[in-house]
Amino acid sequence: MTVDVTVVVPTFNEGPNVAELVRRLAAAFHDGADAGGAGAGEAIPAVEVLFVDDSTDDTPAEIERVAAASALPVRMIHREAPDGGLSGAVVAGLRAAAGERVVVMDGDLQHPPEMVPVLLATARETGADVVVASRYTGKGDAGGLDGRWRRWVSKASGLLARSMFPVKLRDVSDPMTGFFVVRQGAVDLAGLRPRGFKILLEILARQRLVVVEEPFVFGERFAGRSKATVANGLRYVQQLTLLRFGRLSPFAIIGALGAVLNLAILAGLQALGVHYLPAVIWANVVTIVINFLLQERFVFADLREGAHGFWGRFVRSFAFNGTEAAVRTLLLWWIVERAVPHPELVQAALILVAFVVRFVFQAQVVYRP
Ligand code: GDD
Ligand code: MN
Repeated sequence: MTVDVTVVVPTFNEGPNVAELVRRLAAAFHDGADAGGAGAGEAIPAVEVLFVDDSTDDTPAEIERVAAASALPVRMIHREAPDGGLSGAVVAGLRAAAGERVVVMDGDLQHPPEMVPVLLATARETGADVVVASRYTGKGDAGGLDGRWRRWVSKASGLLARSMFPVKLRDVSDPMTGFFVVRQGAVDLAGLRPRGFKILLEILARQRLVVVEEPFVFGERFAGRSKATVANGLRYVQQLTLLRFGRLSPFAIIGALGAVLNLAILAGLQALGVHYLPAVIWANVVTIVINFLLQERFVFADLREGAHGFWGRFVRSFAFNGTEAAVRTLLLWWIVERAVPHPELVQAALILVAFVVRFVFQAQVVYRP
């Protein structure tokens, strides 16, 4: 049998969700074709479901049970030595997919199966390389993202990603989604180095692809608990940096040099008998100017074109970094007077926090054309 569409579903201990997912997928294609929904009037495509399973419980047995009873053909790759986490599982699925279009979706029903024919119709109509199901466009919604904190983290990390890839992610409101369709052959699978949770981000960051978005509402989990961890979040930041700069990130190097210089000036002036507050102010002003000049040359060189003039960028950069440094100095003063009587230590910690905040600002404001 030839397969038109492969639905890749990564699973890690999702037993109670498997039957419901396959049932709703089968129904989605069926109803879509005969009830005038998406895909009305089209022949029902030949769909296979491919579970890429890293479970440590009895999920594989459940998948086999469902496969035997399902209207849709169901395959499973069970990985005994899982590699690359969720992203690695998705890539293994993309490699093994028989269909011309490959849908990637979670196994916990937070991605509504009824959306799959909609995404495929968009893929067919537009011919796009990738169709992204987005929570942050049109009528999309992140509803099922539990808790204010995770919503905020999701938004902030999306913003960070778009700041680092302003061109490739220009039309992508939700680079963090785990729900998308790719055209088999469009993505260079051999070039991927999957790690962590955000495989779509890696796919979009490595290549220039034609991307179209379709809004969707992120639902509640059907059963079980999320497998996302804080470690995944840290891996994400590492992943972004590696994708953007390679191993020797000029931005990180300049940032680190600036921090060292800042702390050296602070310590040096204090050693000369200067009070720590004026010392901090001098350290900040000097490093702001030097950082700006280095970044112009080494970090944002490819984005300078058309982004204000040199002095325009300098004034904006200085206004922001100066304000940020002033806030940081107040915080430093507050902390040193109250709790931690070590200006250098407090300054080091504050610089680290400010580093990430500053990068986002530069990409979004200073270097925006
Ligand atoms: N094979 C495999 N291996 N599957 C995994 C692994 C793994 O190591 N870790 C998680 N999964 C599977 C889960 O079983 C589930 O089917 C899917 O990946 C998503 O995992 P969840 O635990 O439900 O993650 P989430 O809901 O917190 O995160 C989802 O939403 C995020 C958007 O906020 C994922 O789709 C993320 O990719 C997405 O960024
Ligand atoms: Mn989930």
